[in-house]
Amino acid sequence: MDFNSIDWDAMWREEAKFSSRKSISEKEIWDKRADSYDRRNNGSETPDKLDKEDYVSKMLDRIALEPEWTVLDIGSGPGTLTIPLARKAKNVTALDVSPAMLAKLQNKAASQGIRNIRYINSSWQDAFAKKQVGIHDVVVASRSLMTDDIKEALSNIIAVTGKAAYLTFPVIHLPFDWEVYRVIGRRGKKHPPYIYAYNLLYQMGIQANVEILCSKVTVRFANVEEALEVLQRRNDPFNDAEIAKLKEFLEMKFAGLKGSSVFTHEGKSKWALIWWRKDDQEQ
Ligand SMILES: C[S@@+](CC[C@H](N)C(=O)[O-])C[C@H]1O[C@@H](n2cnc3c(N)ncnc32)[C@H](O)[C@@H]1O
Repeated sequence: MDFNSIDWDAMWREEAKFSSRKSISEKEIWDKRADSYDRRNNGSETPDKLDKEDYVSKMLDRIALEPEWTVLDIGSGPGTLTIPLARKAKNVTALDVSPAMLAKLQNKAASQGIRNIRYINSSWQDAFAKKQVGIHDVVVASRSLMTDDIKEALSNIIAVTGKAAYLTFPVIHLPFDWEVYRVIGRRGKKHPPYIYAYNLLYQMGIQANVEILCSKVTVRFANVEEALEVLQRRNDPFNDAEIAKLKEFLEMKFAGLKGSSVFTHEGKSKWALIWWRKDDQEQ
């Protein structure tokens, strides 16, 4: 069989059927998550104090930037990478479908006196279709390409990449959630494997590099109710039997706390960083 005849896009779509929640739009999901996501990923507030084992710290270490370069941050979220990148680059375009996420980023940029960020509140699908996005030296899509339309995303990214692109895909991204899934007897939500995206890039003429970034992830819950709410918000709603099992599990975890009222779980996430330099692609 010829490698190029394999339809990696179709295979990705097939897997994506099991990973995405269709009853609610990306915009609604992310608007709801903006507060908790921002609290968990506050690297942009204190980039100099970041743990070297942290995802953000690892990403910032990998993304090569010159002061005169421009950056496109697709799915910027609350600015986890946007703000530290804006400190180093000429300017950053932050593209995000969620107004709540962009509002967090805007507030942070204002409070830190950062003025070189342009904001596009749109899905990347619409922004590319309307030609709102031009060529940027560096394109970043960090933890934001859990999409059905991977081929469309990659071909648009290739078209606007001036020098280099950095994309990350989940391998294990929420270790505590996976423990919870096991407890309640659900199959964990699997995202399509990053290797399909890598293979698609290869078919599109891009010889990319892959690095698996293993990073520390800490989740903290003040009480059982908060834990239930957050875990439920990230997933398809749990049924009554699942909630009962989960409550029992969480109550046991909280009962085991010694001297602290906050339950903390330390786990490891794995993200596949796929990146390439445009110059390296020339024959
Ligand atoms: C997990 S967060 C990642 C945020 C940030 N890049 C980071 O690494 O912390 C995913 C972000 O992608 C955004 N997003 C999801 N689908 C999108 C789409 N189709 N177009 C634009 N943004 C999207 C969400 O609103 C959210 O802010």
